[in-house]
Amino acid sequence: MGLSLHISIVPAIMMVFSLQVWLPLGCLEEERIALLHLKDSLNYPNGTSLPSWREGDARCCDWERVWCSSSTGRVTKLHLHSVRKGELGGWYLNASLFLPFQELTILYLTDNQIAGWVENKGPTNLSALYLNNITTYGSSFQTLLQSLRAFPNLTTLGLGHNDLRGRVLAFLNLKNLELLDLSYNTLNSSNIFQTIGTMTSLKTLTLQVCSLNGQLPISQGLCDLNHLQELDISSNDLSGFLPPCLANLSSLQQLDLSSNHLKIPMSLSPLYNLSKLKDFYGSPNEIYAEEDDHNLTPKFQLESLYLSSHGQRAKAFPKFLYHQLKHFLNSFTISSTYNI
Ligand SMILES: *[C@@H]1O[C@H](CO)[C@@H](O)[C@H](O)[C@H]1NC(C)=O
Ligand SMILES: *[C@@H]1O[C@H](CO)[C@@H](O)[C@H](O)[C@H]1NC(C)=O
Ligand SMILES: *[C@@H]1O[C@H](CO)[C@@H](O)[C@H](O)[C@H]1NC(C)=O
Ligand SMILES: *[C@@H]1O[C@H](CO)[C@@H](O)[C@H](O)[C@H]1NC(C)=O
Ligand SMILES: *[C@@H]1O[C@H](CO)[C@@H](O)[C@H](O)[C@H]1NC(C)=O
Ligand SMILES: *[C@@H]1O[C@H](CO)[C@@H](O)[C@H](O)[C@H]1NC(C)=O
Ligand SMILES: *[C@@H]1O[C@H](CO)[C@@H](O)[C@H](O)[C@H]1NC(C)=O
Ligand SMILES: *[C@@H]1O[C@H](CO)[C@@H](O)[C@H](O)[C@H]1NC(C)=O
Repeated sequence: MGLSLHISIVPAIMMVFSLQVWLPLGCLEEERIALLHLKDSLNYPNGTSLPSWREGDARCCDWERVWCSSSTGRVTKLHLHSVRKGELGGWYLNASLFLPFQELTILYLTDNQIAGWVENKGPTNLSALYLNNITTYGSSFQTLLQSLRAFPNLTTLGLGHNDLRGRVLAFLNLKNLELLDLSYNTLNSSNIFQTIGTMTSLKTLTLQVCSLNGQLPISQGLCDLNHLQELDISSNDLSGFLPPCLANLSSLQQLDLSSNHLKIPMSLSPLYNLSKLKDFYGSPNEIYAEEDDHNLTPKFQLESLYLSSHGQRAKAFPKFLYHQLKHFLNSFTISSTYNI
């Protein structure tokens, strides 16, 4: 007993010592000064946001909305959503203000009215930029161009709630993007999928509430995105059949088509080859029973499934469900009328 107690205390003491060595006590002086410059900018001319960012306080890693690396003590993430008060007018941002933050990778500027960027370079290490709800239509094109010029290495871009029109994106080089959120914008259905089809690194695409209408593209565009893992095109006015080329989206894990007017075959046959598909959200849409009901087995094993019809009623219980293992299917709703 005595011996085992002795042995276990020693590593515990060593751990406390090593923790003290690793935890940074303050933050880098140049980054602290840069944060204070940023505060001046977002409060210009006479705002009062971020009162806890104080001149005399050296511990800037403890300041609200600031995250630092625990190993280097450098700022890695800034959550600057809703910091600029509306009565101050639009915020003109100087991208160079972010240069001292060499390890900054994630920057939230959501819910501020950004009037434009002073044209210079921001930190090249920044990979995620959230510009949701920063403009109204008119200023958005210029502001967006400037933002992406200032931060050239983005893999994640949030542009939701900006009243962007689709044409804006065609001008941008977004080949390295892995996540693109365009939700709550008015997009042009006849060219947006073609534009997005050039962003071949995309893993997550959100086109929720984008006023999309007509049919999903039957050939190039959307179906070229073979790295896509999550696709959300819910709450639009899309109609017609699911295009067979969806079978090309071989990395797809989550598909949200809910609240459209799509004709979704009850067997989900266009999706049979998507072996990684786990979550399918399809309600409400128009589900229909196919004439030629083949006996193929889907390659997917779903964990969630939502299907319901607001049009014609489905006539037979979906056969593919017999191939789904119950214990994998966590949440599951199919509402319609079946003759089993
Ligand atoms: C900022 O300036 C404006 C105009 O001079 C004034 O109306 C407002 O009260 C000032 N706000 C603060 C917080 O001082
Ligand atoms: C932008 O910020 C940098 C660094 O603080 C500064 O040198 C430069 O003069 C600023 N540019 C403008 C136009 O304010
Ligand atoms: C990017 O971050 C790495 C460390 O994560 C650092 O060594 C490098 O200097 C940074 N690059 C720039 C241009 O700041
Ligand atoms: C957008 O940001 C403004 C502040 O600039 C805020 O008042 C508004 O509620 C935000 N809109 C949404 C949809 O979040
Ligand atoms: C950022 O881009 C530059 C040039 O485009 C490249 O040299 C650099 O390696 C990139 N940095 C990161 C962190 O991706
Ligand atoms: C949508 O795009 C098509 C084809 O590029 C174009 O002819 C049409 O004018 C656009 N519609 C709107 C509303 O911008
Ligand atoms: C996508 O699917 C169609 C058939 O629906 C096929 O003709 C085309 O070659 C596929 N494209 C790729 C890139 O796999
Ligand atoms: C699904 O994959 C099989 C081979 O695994 C292939 O024969 C079939 O054509 C594919 N179907 C679609 C719709 O791509």
